[in-house]
Amino acid sequence: MQTTIETEPRNLAAPLSRNKHLRKWVEKMAQLTQPDAIHWVDGSQEENDNLCAEMVKSGTFIKLNQDLWPGCHYARSDANDVARVEDRTYICSLSKDAAGPTNNWVNPYEMRRKLKGLFDGSMRGRTMYVLAFSMGPIDSPMSQIGVQLTDSPYVVVNMRIMARIGLPVFREIDKDVKRVVPCMHTVGAPLEPGQTDVPWPCNKEKYIVHFPESREIWSYGSGYGGNALLGKKCFALRIASNIARDEGWLAEHMLIVGVENPEGEKTYVAAAFPSACGKTNFAMLVPPAGFEGWKVWTIGDDIAWIKADEQGRLHAINPEAGFFGVAPGTSEKTNPNAMATLRRNTIFTNVALTPEGGVWWEGMTDEPPEECLDWQGRKWTPTIGKETGTKAAHPNSRFTAPASQCPTIDPDWESPEGVPISAIIFGGRRATTMPLVYQAFNWSAGVYTGATMGSETTAAAAGAVGKVRRDPMAMLPFCGYHMGDYFRHWLKVQRRLTQTPRIFHVNWFRKDENGDFIWPGFRENMRVLKWIVDRSRGRAVGLETPIGWTPRYEDIEWTGLHFEREKFEALQAFDHQAWRAEVIGHEELFIDLHDHLPPEIVYERELLICRL
Ligand code: OXD
Ligand code: MN
Repeated sequence: MQTTIETEPRNLAAPLSRNKHLRKWVEKMAQLTQPDAIHWVDGSQEENDNLCAEMVKSGTFIKLNQDLWPGCHYARSDANDVARVEDRTYICSLSKDAAGPTNNWVNPYEMRRKLKGLFDGSMRGRTMYVLAFSMGPIDSPMSQIGVQLTDSPYVVVNMRIMARIGLPVFREIDKDVKRVVPCMHTVGAPLEPGQTDVPWPCNKEKYIVHFPESREIWSYGSGYGGNALLGKKCFALRIASNIARDEGWLAEHMLIVGVENPEGEKTYVAAAFPSACGKTNFAMLVPPAGFEGWKVWTIGDDIAWIKADEQGRLHAINPEAGFFGVAPGTSEKTNPNAMATLRRNTIFTNVALTPEGGVWWEGMTDEPPEECLDWQGRKWTPTIGKETGTKAAHPNSRFTAPASQCPTIDPDWESPEGVPISAIIFGGRRATTMPLVYQAFNWSAGVYTGATMGSETTAAAAGAVGKVRRDPMAMLPFCGYHMGDYFRHWLKVQRRLTQTPRIFHVNWFRKDENGDFIWPGFRENMRVLKWIVDRSRGRAVGLETPIGWTPRYEDIEWTGLHFEREKFEALQAFDHQAWRAEVIGHEELFIDLHDHLPPEIVYERELLICRL
């Protein structure tokens, strides 16, 4: 006979770690922020269910129709808290010079004083969660640990999907082997006694602050995405890029995929694209007709930590455990694997809510629902949309979904050593100039290619949409130190390598004279990926051009797609005039970085000008 043992509910305020420094810090921060309660997060399913139920009660969450969307919840943010706030993001290194001209900088002493004032009493009326998290599999030598103190239960349940959290991480902290990155977060909305809360508390004033030398993060005023889920952009990119520079590895804004051919040969590729350029789609690519027997495996869709092993070969891990994907445009057609991933146990933020208790966003289906509630809870119909120009879902609305639910998740995605990287791809959203694909001549030319990347801006960050901005390695908003030093670091990494990955540039977004995209994109990108894999393995032809090697029409696998030679030539066209302007455009960024620019970058520019 089975006996059940009745247990007392856990005392949530009882520390889950023996680590004295951690316990002291938690106490000190509680004194500063003055929460009503402290909750050490164990990461269990039961705890998660309780937090979700509490948020349903408080109005932060709506439980979706569980028959249609099992385990799924829905949230609407405040209309002023919908994206990363780059103009409120700071790298407070000791010297302004170390942060460089591409980052906002404030003297760290001044910033600490400011933050102390802001955090003073900021959690009053709320619970402070002690959230231990590991970026990367806990047993990986490449993983890093953080502890986020936050007054947002929404953040806790999102972080549970996006990172490894709770008891196993506290156990790792207790071993006292890895340094812990302290991450402070408050939505900046203390409650007076008796004051009722709003569904999405936040503050008009926002500060996303990084102290690179002491490896600390302080985030104030926002509950949204990268502003608040501190493991992601703040830790895994801005702080990690500093750690990586000091330790000789790379923390990059890159997806990772494994390309398997019909013979079972697998080639891993990492790719950097600016925000909202289809990284998640590319990471879950379904090979098109004509590619029977090929498979693309997903390791990560946003961030890669890449390190040389003892043999001098680059290996990468995905430090995240979930996808925080842009919803609009995601559909069974564009990304069936993402759709399968987000069918259950997913949090939707700022999409539309259908009368059946489901979700919808622009592009999810050909036909919009007859009626729904938009991301601000207002009635929305296709007619209202047409008349007022409003979208049902916010353009930066998101799904937070567990990576383990992805049908194409790579069997080795949690391998502690990571996966070997054979090729690196840089890409942007460019209507003109940039061909579909080219291969840089060598590592340093490839670093130059990445360093001069440009892209039209999107809705992932607050600000104007559609302007070309230089976004080196897609790291402009994420590099936690001087961009010139970052290029130098990239160049130095090659010295550790015996097998250097090949570097490529792609552009899925070139337009014709009518403003229409020339390339169909999505699945068809597989054709480009195959050429990249074959080039990396030294078995495909490349035609030499002033910018690098490019495929000829006959070097691309066209089975299953009718795509005329002339169209391909328009895609690959090398426009001298446009490239002159392009190279002059590079100068704009370099002028700002000149005193930290490594000489190799200057040589590469000279070489490019000579070839032009
Ligand atoms: C993201 C971004 O959310 O890059 O991944 O903005
Ligand atoms: Mn990103």
